[in-house]
Amino acid sequence: MFKHIYKGKKVFLTGHTGFKGSWLAYWLLELGAEVAGYSLAPNTQPNHWDLLNLPIQTVVGDIREGEKLQKAMQNFQPDVVFHLAAQPLVRESYLLPVETFETNVIGTAKVYEAVRSCKRPPVLVSITTDKVYQNNEWVWGYRENDRLGGHDPYSTSKACVELLHESYRKSFFDKENIRTATARAGNVIGGGDWSKDRLLPDVVKATANQQAVQIRNPQATRPWQHVLEPLSAYLLLGQHLLEGNPKATESWNFASDFEGCVPVQTILDLMQTHWAKVQWTDVSANEKLHEANLLQLDSTKAKTVLQWKPIWNIAQTVAVTTNWYRAYYEYGEVNTPKDLKNYVAEAEKQKLCWVA
Ligand SMILES: NC(=O)c1ccc[n+]([C@@H]2O[C@H](COP(=O)([O-])OP(=O)(O)OC[C@H]3O[C@@H](n4cnc5c(N)ncnc54)[C@H](O)[C@@H]3O)[C@@H](O)[C@H]2O)c1
Repeated sequence: MFKHIYKGKKVFLTGHTGFKGSWLAYWLLELGAEVAGYSLAPNTQPNHWDLLNLPIQTVVGDIREGEKLQKAMQNFQPDVVFHLAAQPLVRESYLLPVETFETNVIGTAKVYEAVRSCKRPPVLVSITTDKVYQNNEWVWGYRENDRLGGHDPYSTSKACVELLHESYRKSFFDKENIRTATARAGNVIGGGDWSKDRLLPDVVKATANQQAVQIRNPQATRPWQHVLEPLSAYLLLGQHLLEGNPKATESWNFASDFEGCVPVQTILDLMQTHWAKVQWTDVSANEKLHEANLLQLDSTKAKTVLQWKPIWNIAQTVAVTTNWYRAYYEYGEVNTPKDLKNYVAEAEKQKLCWVA
């Protein structure tokens, strides 16, 4: 996979204790990489990071602690850095706006300074989000050259990261031969996420407690995708940066196809077909915080230039995710290895470029 480029490579992850970071650490180890992680300790119980118990070098630290972070990166001397650490929750960002901006914007600047401080420049993939665009509530997918913006502090902080990244690229990275890109992916689901105020974690926690989950916005439509889809994109982008493809050093959308852009209500219906105990009540009448209703991304650029594409449709995505949680709650199983194996097998069947 990925032309064996990760075999023996030193890969530094920020946010390795999180949902995406723990899946990425697992996949990188499967690819033969030497992995190091820098993050806060997991803040949910259970959490995917502890369940996987992976053999990687870790430092528990805050990305805002610039010196500690630089030391960790300099000691490891990475070939590749994937920056995922963030305060990633919209509702939390209304409660903790200053901390959200500090972590996501200033913390990212400190990650970039740590990258610059390495003797041998690594390549860098910086993870932002589908929410970086000014949301016009229109039916078209946002493209990379659409206007950045944001309403809630989380989305705005990630739009700020895109501007910060562009400033660092022009001012430092290009001159210092540090090849970088940003990746904007959609609403990610998959086993092992227990974050607060996210749809799937809320549903499975309520279901495990034999309760109906309260749904704040059943009509909200998002580009849902399985966690392995954006991870395959981040790894492919990292591969292009390592190979020195000059076209890769840009911003990239990685989203499900438009058919995968469905309302919350559809996700709940699909989940129920795999776990009959899933029940919900509509509490949208009480909802006061603003969240975008309609959001779609256009991944034409990634499909054309990188030959990346998503491989699981929405029904498969929800099935795999629901079955992961069901197996965990009913049998104590962690199906991460099985899900990755099936995902790679499907990629092979569909002849995706990165399985070559
Ligand atoms: N999950 C999604 O649907 C989604 C969608 C789009 C973008 N993203 C982005 O992907 C990245 C990973 O998201 P996730 O879903 O895995 O989130 P998560 O909350 O599961 O993980 C966040 C990680 O960041 C770490 N972290 C948070 N604050 C930190 C700090 N100050 N210093 C050091 N580490 C810190 C946490 O310890 C954790 O390891 C984030 O940048 C997020 O904005 C996520």
